[in-house]
Amino acid sequence: MFTKSNKYDFDFVKENMMGPNSIKIFEEVSESLKLEKDMRILDLGCGRGLTSIFLAKEYDVIVFATDLWISATDNYERIKSMGLEDKIIPIHAEAHDLPFANEFFDAAICIDAYNYFGAEKII
Ligand SMILES: C[S@@+](CC[C@H](N)C(=O)[O-])C[C@H]1O[C@@H](n2cnc3c(N)ncnc32)[C@H](O)[C@@H]1O
Repeated sequence: MFTKSNKYDFDFVKENMMGPNSIKIFEEVSESLKLEKDMRILDLGCGRGLTSIFLAKEYDVIVFATDLWISATDNYERIKSMGLEDKIIPIHAEAHDLPFANEFFDAAICIDAYNYFGAEKII
């Protein structure tokens, strides 16, 4: 259990957590997902991008790390420091006004964030 997420430096994880350990939650969720290299994934409400980093590193997918409270620049600095700038695109956006085309993503994830905006219709 948690063989992937336990590999991550816990100080880095703790520094960037905004609630529960999102990479552990995602690792559990991922067991029911079929993720393949180069899939386009929306990480909605990604916060400081922990799950985006995890997705890019563990599954070699392209992640659109989208958040409202954390700026795209802040996330881009973290993404670059991990050498993942070719895999993760940081986006600052409101969940009800997303700047993406219909049918653009192969999958969307939302860890510990849906409860902030999910009561209102998104699309
Ligand atoms: C508790 S944090 C969780 C962040 C991240 N998913 C994690 O687990 O570490 C909730 C996130 O939801 C995002 N959020 C809240 N309301 C939002 C909205 N209307 N549109 C986009 N993101 C929103 C916030 O910006 C925040 O980063």
